[in-house]
Order: sequence, then structure tokens, then C-alpha cells
Amino acid sequence: MTDALINLTRGVPPMEVLPVEDMIKASEAAFNNDGPNLLQYTHAPGYPPLIKLLAERYEVAPERIFTGNSSLEVMDFITRILLKPGLRAFAESPSYDRANTLLLRSGAEVVGIPMEADGVNLAAFEAELKKGAPKLVYIIADFQNPMGTTTSEAKRRQIAKWAKEYDFYIAEDAPYRMLRYKGKDVPTFLSMAPERVFHMGSLSKLLAPGLRLGFVIAPEDQVKKLITWATDTYIGPVGPSQGMVYEYFRMGLFDANVEKLKKIYAPRLEALEKAVKKYIPGATFPTPEGGFFISLILPEGNTMDNLLKRAPEVNLKITDGRGFYLNPADGDRFLRIPFCTLSPEQIDEAMKRLSTILVNK
Ligand SMILES: Cc1ncc(COP(=O)(O)O)c(C=O)c1O
Repeated sequence: MTDALINLTRGVPPMEVLPVEDMIKASEAAFNNDGPNLLQYTHAPGYPPLIKLLAERYEVAPERIFTGNSSLEVMDFITRILLKPGLRAFAESPSYDRANTLLLRSGAEVVGIPMEADGVNLAAFEAELKKGAPKLVYIIADFQNPMGTTTSEAKRRQIAKWAKEYDFYIAEDAPYRMLRYKGKDVPTFLSMAPERVFHMGSLSKLLAPGLRLGFVIAPEDQVKKLITWATDTYIGPVGPSQGMVYEYFRMGLFDANVEKLKKIYAPRLEALEKAVKKYIPGATFPTPEGGFFISLILPEGNTMDNLLKRAPEVNLKITDGRGFYLNPADGDRFLRIPFCTLSPEQIDEAMKRLSTILVNK
């Protein structure tokens, strides 16, 4: 096989969008303006000017903001202050595999609620609620990883209502929310039930993952608990990253970068939808309006074991879809395809190659 390997496993930004020159400027400004403080121990919840800036952007009190080294770390801290063995947590099924791991690691019982094209199945959610209310519900409401779907406003309102009635928290993980290529924003869970929601954001997909900077907007009493946990864990987050990101925002570069990313990613999503329809018409997939992923339900007769065995024959690297499900067998025909790192030509070629190892396509 001479054609180069095409990697369909990585939901990361392509190397060419990482803004090296601008980050050099931002880091120079950060060290010039506040070097000693950034190099000294920081304190949870993070660099005060950055906290203030985020509070202004999200129009919330600064006391409701906590920053950490990546949103995954913030999610880990949330599971630690809320969950323990004997409690329940709900997650979408399928969901982000690392988040599932964090939920499971808490020792809580983790229940997967089946996903539909507009969010979780509410009847299944309610049936589980009646068996026992969860302490935490983890939802990626915008351009879900792995499915690419967005939870409808009606479903958000119902779940927010249940959160108040059944006294659970919603972890609204929103790293892709700003990467919308078409359609209109759906109101956040945060706007519907601010006293019940941990709204997480991340700079990984909007700026650069290597900065490891994530944050959460949460009720003040919960932020206090996160601060205690973080202080006992590492005192404070990495100062230079926080200072660089602060200056990057202050230079007015952030929103322009997001716009630039949307222009690059939107045609990639279109190319993928077109290629799937052309080469694998038997596959079904929800059509995302943003984010990083499309997910295919492959035609009957295909299995992950067979696909994983055959993908190297056509120089494709794929992700085992079973890994996104708490019940792995549910993902035997589920294939997540990240489109942001690939050019439209690579996307077309990848779907062409994939079609040659599928049955009933
Ligand atoms: C839903 C979701 N949450 C969190 C993350 C990780 O974000 P961070 O790099 O801030 O930990 C990802 C990355 O793929 C993701 O898809």
C-alpha cells in the first residue's frame, strides 16, 4: 500500500491552526506585565485578571468561576466533590470516553441514557430518575463528542426542570459550543438553571490544547468546594498559561481566532457529509451544525472487530466505537469520524477507502 495513512482517530485541532506567532506576542506581554506573579505559586481558582475577564464575558459574578489545567481536570474535580460510591450519575450513551472514565472512577453507579439526534431519550431518562435520582448528569449539549448532535431546547428545558425537582446537578461540558458552522445557538443549561449547573469551557479547541486551560461556571458554594479540592491537590493552576491566555484575550485575538477556525472547519464538515453520502449511502448519521465529529451507524453486517482488523489494509486508522459506550456491545457498528484535522481531499479519500472494507454499504 503506497497511499499515506489517514488517521480517523484524533479529535484534535490540526497543527496549522495553532497560533504560534500570536502566542509568542501574548507570552511576551504576559511576562512583561506580570512576570513574577505568573512564575510564583498561583492560587485556586486561578489568575485573578483571567477570572475577572471570564466573569465579564459570561456576565456572571467572578466568585462563580473556577479555572484549572484543562476542562478534564475540572471535570475530575467536579466528580470528586460530588460523587462517591452509593450515589448515581447519568451520562449520555454514547459519550466522551474520558468523561465516562472519570465518572466511573468516582465509584458512583454510572447509567448511560440512550442518545437520539436531538439529545438523550427523555422517556429512558425519566425511567431511570424514578429508579433513583442521580447526583450528577453529564451532558455535552452542543456538537456532542462522539455523535456531533446538539440537544434541543425542549429537551434542555425538561432536564433543567428535573434538575430542580430531583435535586441533581448538570455538568454541561461545552468545549465545542462556539464552533457553530450553521444554524442558531440553543440556550445553555446554565441560562436555564444556574443554581444547578456546572458549565465547563475549554481553550483546547478554540485556541490550543497544549495550554491545558479549562474553566467552569458553577454555583458559588460549589466553586468554594472546588477551590478547597484544588488547593489541597496542587495549590494553584499553571500561571504562565493563564497569563498568556489572559493577554491573548486582551489583545482582541480570541474572537478572531474562533472565526478563523470556523471558516477552516465548516467546509471539512460539508466534505465529510458529501463523501459519506457518495461512498456509504447505507450508513446513517445525524447532521451536526458544528464541532469536530460526525458519527456513522454502519450498515448491518459490519462489526468493529472486523473493521479494526481490516482498516490497516487500506491504510486507515479508526477508533473502536465500543469505547464510547458504557455497554460496549452497543457500539459495535458505531464509527466516530473527526473531520477537523483532515483536508476535504483527505476526507473524500478516507471515506472511499472505508467503503471498500464495509459490507451492505
Ligand atoms: C466533550 C469534551 N470534553 C473535554 C475535552 C477535553 O478538553 P480539555 O483539553 O480542556 O481537557 C474534550 C476533548 O476532546 C471533549 O471532547
